Amino acid sequence: MTNYQFPKDFYWGSASSGPQSEGRYENDGKGDNIWDLWYKEQPELYFNTIGPEKTSQAYTHIKEDVALLKATGHNSFRTSIQWSRLIPEGRGAINPAAVKFYNELIDELLANDIEPFINLYHFDMPVVLQKEGGWENRKTIDAYVAYATACFELFGDRVKKWFTHNEPIVPVEGGYLYGFHYPHEVSFKAAVQVGYHEMLASAKAIAAYRALGKIGEIGIILNLTPSYARDENNPSDVKAAQFADGFFNRSFLDPSVLGEYPADLIDDLRSADVLPSYLVEDLEIIKNNTVDLLGINYYQPRRIQARENPHEWSVPMPEDFFETYDMPNKKINPYRGWEIYEKGIYDTLTNIRENYGNIPCYISENGMGVEDESRFIDKQGQINDDYRIEFVSEHLKYVHQAITEGSNVRGYHMWTFIDNWSWLNAYKNRYGFVSLDLENDGKRTIKKSGHWYKKVSENNGFEE
Ligand code: GAL
Repeated sequence: MTNYQFPKDFYWGSASSGPQSEGRYENDGKGDNIWDLWYKEQPELYFNTIGPEKTSQAYTHIKEDVALLKATGHNSFRTSIQWSRLIPEGRGAINPAAVKFYNELIDELLANDIEPFINLYHFDMPVVLQKEGGWENRKTIDAYVAYATACFELFGDRVKKWFTHNEPIVPVEGGYLYGFHYPHEVSFKAAVQVGYHEMLASAKAIAAYRALGKIGEIGIILNLTPSYARDENNPSDVKAAQFADGFFNRSFLDPSVLGEYPADLIDDLRSADVLPSYLVEDLEIIKNNTVDLLGINYYQPRRIQARENPHEWSVPMPEDFFETYDMPNKKINPYRGWEIYEKGIYDTLTNIRENYGNIPCYISENGMGVEDESRFIDKQGQINDDYRIEFVSEHLKYVHQAITEGSNVRGYHMWTFIDNWSWLNAYKNRYGFVSLDLENDGKRTIKKSGHWYKKVSENNGFEE
C-alpha cells in the first residue's frame, strides 16, 4: 500500500463553464453567442439535436449545485462567466440579471468554503462581435478587455483566482482549421491571427487586472498536449513533433509564462507565410504581463511522425509540417476514442518545472468521457463509474510523483462536476462526478466517483 498524500491546502475540485452548464431562460437577458447562432442555423450538427439553451440548468440550481459540490468534497470550483450573459451585445450595457446570478453563485460558493476560480473566455464569442470578425478582428481585443475589467470590478472583491482564457488554441483549431467551432472556416492565416489576438487580449486583460490593484492571482488555462515523436532517434519525426508542440502548446505557453514567442515557431510560420499582423508595442505588452498561475488541462498525448502522405486539404495547413502517428497498442478510452496515457500529465508538469521557472500551476481539467453511463446504474440509482475512479487515481499518482520531485502543483480539478453539454457532442459523452437526467427534469445524482472524491479530499490523498 502506498499513501499518496498531497500538500497542505491542495485544491480539490472540478471545472465547468458558463455556456456548457447555465442554460437559457425567459427574461434572463442573455445575448446570443456563436453557439446559440450556430444551433439556430444547423441544429442537426448537434448530437441528438440538443442545443446550448438546454444545458444543465445551473442558472436555476445554485443552492442545490453548491450543496452537491460540498457533498463531493470540493474546496474549489472553476466555471466561466458568459460574456454574452454579462454584456449581451459584446460591448456596452451590462445585464443586471447576470450580475445578480454571478453574485449569488460566488456568494454561495464562498459561504460553503469553496473557492471560486473564474475564467473569462470559454469558446463563447458574442454574436455581435463575431459578425465583425470575432478574434480575427483586432477591435475585439478592446471589447474583451472592457468585459474583463467589468468582471474584475464587479466580482474581484471576492474572486481571487482569475483566468483569461480556457484552451485558447481550441477556437483556433475549431473555428479556423478543422470546422468544429463557428465560423468553421479553413484558413491557416486567419487561424494564426486569431491565436495572436487571443494572446494579446490575455496580456492586456492581465495588465487591466493589475492596474486595478486587486488582491488575487490571474492566469490562463492551457490544454498542454505533450507531443511524442514516433521515433525519438529519427530527426524528421522529432522535428515534426517539435512543430506540433510549438503550434499547439508553446504558441500560448511561451508568451503567457515567459513573455515571448518561441523562435522556431516564428520561423515555421514565416516559412508558411502565415505570420500574423501585429504592432511592435504589442510585444512589450506581452512581455510585461505574464501569468501568476497556470491552469493545465490534460486529456491525451499527441503522437507525431514526419509527413509521409499528402494531407487531405488543398490549402496550406499546420499538417504540412507533421502527421499524426497511429501508435499500435496504445491504451484507448473506448467510449471516446482518446488515448489514455497517464504519464503524459507527469511529463507536462516536469516540462513546466524544468523549462518554465516552475511557475505555480494546477491541473485545471482531466477526465474521462463515457457514452451511455445508464448501463452502470445500480439498484439505488447510482452510476458505478469505477473506470472514472481508476482514471482519476492513476493520473493523481503521476501528479503526486511530480510534486515529490519538486513541481509547484497547487491542485487538481476534474472535468467535470455535473454532466454537461459538450459543444457539438452535446450530452453524448458524460464526464461528471454527478449524473444529470435530462429526461427527468435535470435530476442530479452523485456517481460512485463523486463519493470517492469526497474521501480523497477529506484525507487530502488516498491509499492504494
Ligand atoms: C475540453 C474543454 C471543455 C470540455 C472538455 C471535454 O477541451 O475545455 O470545455 O468540453 O474538453 O470534452
